[in-house]
Amino acid sequence: MEDILSAKEISSDTSETTRRIREEPRRRSKVSIKGVNAWFGSKQALKNINLEIEENTATAFMGPSGCGKTTLIRCLNRMHEMTPGAKAKGQVILDGIDIYDKSIDPVIIKRRIGMVFQKPNPFPTMSIFDNVAAGLKLNGIKDKKLIREIVEESLEGAGLWEEVKNELDKPGMGLSGGQQQRLCIARALAMQPEILLMDEPTSALDPLASSKIEELVHKLKKDLTIIIVTHNMQQAARVADRAAFMYLGEMIEYGFTKQIFQNPEQELTERFVSGKFG
Ligand SMILES: Nc1ncnc2c1ncn2[C@@H]1O[C@H](COP(=O)(O)OP(=O)(O)OP(=O)(O)O)[C@@H](O)[C@H]1O
Ligand SMILES: [Mg+2]
Repeated sequence: MEDILSAKEISSDTSETTRRIREEPRRRSKVSIKGVNAWFGSKQALKNINLEIEENTATAFMGPSGCGKTTLIRCLNRMHEMTPGAKAKGQVILDGIDIYDKSIDPVIIKRRIGMVFQKPNPFPTMSIFDNVAAGLKLNGIKDKKLIREIVEESLEGAGLWEEVKNELDKPGMGLSGGQQQRLCIARALAMQPEILLMDEPTSALDPLASSKIEELVHKLKKDLTIIIVTHNMQQAARVADRAAFMYLGEMIEYGFTKQIFQNPEQELTERFVSGKFG
């Protein structure tokens, strides 16, 4: 849509969207979701989803319970197909390559696209340090100095280093819920992902711990692309550049967050963002 506006149209049109196109730098597409359908057995959970995710942005997926938000992000890193009986069709183009192409190893996709879940899930028997280092070790990195550096960098990146730097050998499970979630973010960052998928990452956290995660989203998107599922519309408004509203497995509307909240095109979106259902 943005691409087809000519310079003349841009200079004569003063609409909100055009104004924002002028103000915002044009970003590169990171992921193109093209005609994605997904099923659990015979039950269709996603219907013909099409979406462009731009690099270094945060996109919020919103919609009522059961509309397919989790299923969609799980289709973006090939986790969906790990559920017995589940299948997905369509294309997910990451930097020009379809992650569903037969030649693609799903393990590499999971490395490039990290994920953080609703409930913090540190590895239960491991120390703080080992939680972050585990993926590196699994990937054959043995250099202890390098592992230490990456662990420190990742904990810094997740805004947790100052709180844990003197207790790296203590169990990850001993941290507070908010700290555990930041530990899980550090664990994902250690793999140096290009995209971070966050499935309701603050729904189990108190407001202070949630606001720390929101601050992190702002900071992290400078280096990576973030997709965050959230039930909390204020949170979507605070953290997301783009927002997508889903309903019964369909993508109803997608656009600049401000537009979705203040001037949605679809009546269903309007009803959802004004709290009439969901
Ligand atoms: N493992 C599963 N087996 C069968 N059906 C499933 C499974 N997981 C999800 N579904 C169904 O797929 C649809 C989409 O579910 P999904 O979990 O993606 O929704 P959601 O938008 O993330 O909801 P919520 O906000 O409650 O997390 C729902 O109808 C759900 O019942
Ligand atoms: Mg969900």
